Amino acid sequence: MIEEQIEKKIADAYMEKFPVSREHHEKLINYIPGGATRSLSYFKPWPIHIDYGQGAYVYTHEGHKLFDVTNAYGAIVHGHGDPDVVKAVQEGIARGSQYSTPTTGQYKLAKLLCERIPGFDRVRFVNSGTEATLFALRTARAYTKKDKILKMTGGFHGTHDCVAASTKKNVITAGIPNGMTEDMLEVKFNDFNGFEKVVKENASELAAVIMEPFLGAGGVVLPEPGYLEHVRKVTSDNNVLLIFDEIFSYRVHIGGCQAFYSVVPDLTTVGKVVGGGLPIGVFGGKEKIMNIYCHESTDKPLYHSGTFNGYETVMQAGYAALFKYDEAAVAYVNKLGDQFQKSLLESFKANGLNIQSNQIGSLLNLHFVNEPITTAEQVLKSEEQLHTLMHLSLLNKGIFTIPRGLFILSTVMTQQEIEHLVDKIDETLKELLPLIEEKYNHLLL
Ligand SMILES: Cc1ncc(COP(=O)(O)O)c(C=O)c1O
Repeated sequence: MIEEQIEKKIADAYMEKFPVSREHHEKLINYIPGGATRSLSYFKPWPIHIDYGQGAYVYTHEGHKLFDVTNAYGAIVHGHGDPDVVKAVQEGIARGSQYSTPTTGQYKLAKLLCERIPGFDRVRFVNSGTEATLFALRTARAYTKKDKILKMTGGFHGTHDCVAASTKKNVITAGIPNGMTEDMLEVKFNDFNGFEKVVKENASELAAVIMEPFLGAGGVVLPEPGYLEHVRKVTSDNNVLLIFDEIFSYRVHIGGCQAFYSVVPDLTTVGKVVGGGLPIGVFGGKEKIMNIYCHESTDKPLYHSGTFNGYETVMQAGYAALFKYDEAAVAYVNKLGDQFQKSLLESFKANGLNIQSNQIGSLLNLHFVNEPITTAEQVLKSEEQLHTLMHLSLLNKGIFTIPRGLFILSTVMTQQEIEHLVDKIDETLKELLPLIEEKYNHLLL
């Protein structure tokens, strides 16, 4: 009864608030299955349609101004329409956008990345994170002449066949031939012994371990003290390459999580923020490994091409964004994240709730789970219904979030805006409290 009342109230308010999005959805569905060209952007009753973004806000066709804590799933770190990125794109595109040659933009961005990220001696550019991890795996396999790859349960590395198939959460893997996953192994994140055992047992066939330094899409699950050091030691001792996928995690430190935790992998991938909000992927690593692509070091360099690789306008936009994402900017946005975490935990307590918030820097994931979260398996226990209701209810209150409780901050946000965000989450928790008391009382203190 209470459940129905709360669900109805939130859904009715949503339907009343976003009627133009519905019209757009109903038109789009005739041309794009489900009306969303990205699985994650669909939700019921229909997704919101955004007209434009400015700074920390996006504006819907209804004219609603929403505080954007999705920040394009982490690709945007200075808010929408950042003047330096806009200038770089406008000036860049006016001079022609892609010449299929090496360029100054590639030099500037590659140099900046190699200077900042400890694991990068050499890099190559692609167009998405998916492509970056695909090539990181191919690089590892070509260099070691071994085929197997080990990943972590709940680790997300994009949508190409071998990694998508081994992502357990919410991913339907029809269409991926068995052969693509034969050489994929998987262990639990933060399981020290399980990891060591599988690496040792497979060392002679294992090319690489690919992992995020913390599980990002998997719920912002942080490594336990000593875990990354352990992974580094076990891989080195067994002649297995270590790949850090820092596509999501890069933003926590100017040198990426590898600098934050002082653990340097053999190969690294980055993406998202390093393109300034434009499509990008980067893979790279130690010089001796990356030399397999070098025409001047080998007669038979590994082939890696792509019409849009190193797209000059993207290089310039990425450089503009990263140049000002310096230590001070990272410290600022990370501090906002710390403040967000502190206030949110106070709100949980004040509402008598035993739920979790996992945070690092500007990234935070709320979980409707009653115990501290250190594994992907625990994340899967988070109550879906509460996430769904919270997401819609926050939209009704002018807050645009990622449905699974992930919040991503940007440098244009202020402390006041973070407090406002916490107030809105607090109001939503109060709204859901009768349902939690009735149906999810394990989440009460
Ligand atoms: C850690 C990680 N790897 C890879 C990807 C895939 O990147 P893209 O969506 O640009 O293909 C993502 C995207 O969220 C990611 O978070």
